[in-house]
Amino acid sequence: MSTDFTSGPKKRIVITGGSGVVGRYVIQKLLSYGHEILNVDQTPLDNPNVHTLKADLTDGAQAFNALSCHFQISEPFLEEMRTPDVVIHLAGIPQPNRIPDNETFRINTLSSYAIIEAACKLGIKKIILASSITVYGVTYAETNISFPHFPITESTPTEPMDVYATSKVCMERVAASFEKRFRAMGKPVDIYCLRIGAVVTPDRHQEVMTSYLERPREWKVHGWSYIDARDLGNVINRCIETDGLGFEVFNVVNDENTLPDGKAQTIDWLRSFCPETEILDEQALRGQMAPISNEKAKRLLGFREEYPWREERRKWVAREIREER
Ligand SMILES: NC(=O)c1ccc[n+]([C@@H]2O[C@H](COP(=O)([O-])OP(=O)(O)OC[C@H]3O[C@@H](n4cnc5c(N)ncnc54)[C@H](O)[C@@H]3O)[C@@H](O)[C@H]2O)c1
Repeated sequence: MSTDFTSGPKKRIVITGGSGVVGRYVIQKLLSYGHEILNVDQTPLDNPNVHTLKADLTDGAQAFNALSCHFQISEPFLEEMRTPDVVIHLAGIPQPNRIPDNETFRINTLSSYAIIEAACKLGIKKIILASSITVYGVTYAETNISFPHFPITESTPTEPMDVYATSKVCMERVAASFEKRFRAMGKPVDIYCLRIGAVVTPDRHQEVMTSYLERPREWKVHGWSYIDARDLGNVINRCIETDGLGFEVFNVVNDENTLPDGKAQTIDWLRSFCPETEILDEQALRGQMAPISNEKAKRLLGFREEYPWREERRKWVAREIREER
């Protein structure tokens, strides 16, 4: 496995939604690269190294203030209040039907609008936004529908029918508009939208992977793809390090599919399980490559995965054997 986890100058970063399932792992990864972090969330984070500013980001005034405040509480406030280098926006409702649909739409669209607007107007030069592979429309469809083709790339149409993915499409559209506007004004800003795959956290790795392996027919909804939460942190770090791309969207998944070893050749599985779906690029699906492609993140951001699931599985299998003894 080739890995390059070198890190450039340390950045001052505001992360929103860092108290959530995904954010806490992203924060740990970014701290390991030496970045300075402020978390903005409605709930506290159980990490003594990071201050959480409590805010409701659907309120534009709170978003503006969250991006222009101290990173710590101290008495007195001696630290200079500097503009952050980067904002990473994870806050929001991560699924439809957790709360009423109109609230999911309101919270996700208003909070992302408020953060993008505040960051651009405050002169923050890098904005990284949590979108989702659900924008490709299969995950939360009302019926069992097919992907339009394989591999799924960033050019695959985004025409979802559910409110959650639709809120992410709206966020991407707002982001593109702000990037265009600020470039036209001679104040360019990088806005990278991450279409994040199903996130697998270390504490649930065994449980989730076992379910993928035991019931592969159920997991078209995840495109037989996943992202380890720590590798999401690595993608985000590559976004932090990579300047000058303007507006871009990236699929964020690990390299390989989530199929059991006996069925693991991606092309064979797709041909037998989805015979109606066109295969556009056999080379991109060679071996065990995931049906959702991360080729663009590798090429433009230099992403290299650190936590392939088959290696992580060796660790939990070894742990089980130790515990049985
Ligand atoms: N979990 C996944 O598999 C997955 C996959 C793709 C994309 N995503 C995206 O990643 C992001 C994080 O997902 P997660 O699974 O950690 O969700 P989560 O619900 O665990 O965390 C979201 C955080 O956002 C905060 N939040 C919600 N509304 C807020 C508001 N108005 N103001 C301030 N904070 C607010 C919550 O308090 C919470 O801590 C979301 O944007 C989600 O859509 C998640």
